[in-house]
Amino acid sequence: MSKTIAVIRGDGIGPEIMEATLRVLETLQLGFQYDFVEAGLAAQEKFGELLPQATLDAITKHRVALKSPLTTPVGEGFSSINVELRKRFDLYANVRPAISFPNTRSRFPEGVDLVTVRENTEGAYIGEGQQVSADGETATLTQKVTRRGSERIVRYAFDLARRTGRKKVTVVHKANILKSTSGLFLKVAREVAAQYPDIACNEMIVDNTCMQLVMRPEQFDVIVTTNLFGDIISDLCAGLVGGLGLAPGANIGADAAIFEAVHGSAPDIAGKGIANPCALLLGAAQMLDHLEFGDEALRLRTAIRATLTTRDRVTPDLGGNGTTDSFADALIERLRA
Ligand code: NAI
Ligand code: MG
Repeated sequence: MSKTIAVIRGDGIGPEIMEATLRVLETLQLGFQYDFVEAGLAAQEKFGELLPQATLDAITKHRVALKSPLTTPVGEGFSSINVELRKRFDLYANVRPAISFPNTRSRFPEGVDLVTVRENTEGAYIGEGQQVSADGETATLTQKVTRRGSERIVRYAFDLARRTGRKKVTVVHKANILKSTSGLFLKVAREVAAQYPDIACNEMIVDNTCMQLVMRPEQFDVIVTTNLFGDIISDLCAGLVGGLGLAPGANIGADAAIFEAVHGSAPDIAGKGIANPCALLLGAAQMLDHLEFGDEALRLRTAIRATLTTRDRVTPDLGGNGTTDSFADALIERLRA
């Protein structure tokens, strides 16, 4: 039976990079069917809402979505659609690989190969208790960490390490200061780690982690952490390997998973045909892993790596003079060869 994937073409450069990505996926001949649904500005214009029920239904039904970036209109009353999707489907694991590619703007052209596993539903981002006092002088916020939330994310990180042949999990925290929230996360992480004797585990305080990542990123393999720290660290890691054009992300829950590029809809270059499709392509590779097409995911990543060395085909953000399509074409040629 062929697998159906909910596809959101998105806004700005979204449709351009999605078209390129689907063309490349077609080359792999996995017999995927696509259910095209809308979200973001495109949905707002067509149906008068940013996140139509039909889109939610498609994701519920197919359980896997490939999503291009969405534009969230600026202004009152528009909450981020991405945050909304994470909430609706309880996509608790945000998985962001950061892998160096040759010929890019990576500061470490060889040495970085790590995955950040960020807790995606709790911590400082629950949106509760946000208050500013009447005089505007004092602001407060509630953070929430639960045993269940911590356990499932740390378990996810260790399972991922096992499944993908990674050797070490680094638990990133600030339990020395945030004794309640980060303290509970660390306590639970230690309990979970004890159940994975085959995977090495170390603990690192978040500020030191940032320095260590910049100085010696090769020491990291899998990083697991709470929501706010993970948000910041995963962008830092994207910077280590050459920026947003190469950074994919997966949002994974028990019942659904959404694969995407980390970058936004890049309105400044939309319609010019020069958007770098690599981040979404690498998101598609994560999707292939998730659908248990591990060999094809590896084939795709290897071909992307090789194609990035052809200067005239890569997009301008990576210093090349290619286009979205010329990169996709070169990648397809390589996959067919
Ligand atoms: P952005 O990531 O869209 O753009 C930042 C800069 O990076 C721009 O100069 C852009 O041209 C460049 N860039 C981004 N992706 C690129 C690619 N694939 N190839 C070449 N260059 C690329 O961030 P910005 O401008 O802050 O946000 C624009 C819109 O995107 C906003 O409406 C924002 O809400 C939305 N957004 C959506 C996200 C999502 O759906 N996952 C994530 C981040 C932002
Ligand atoms: Mg972020």
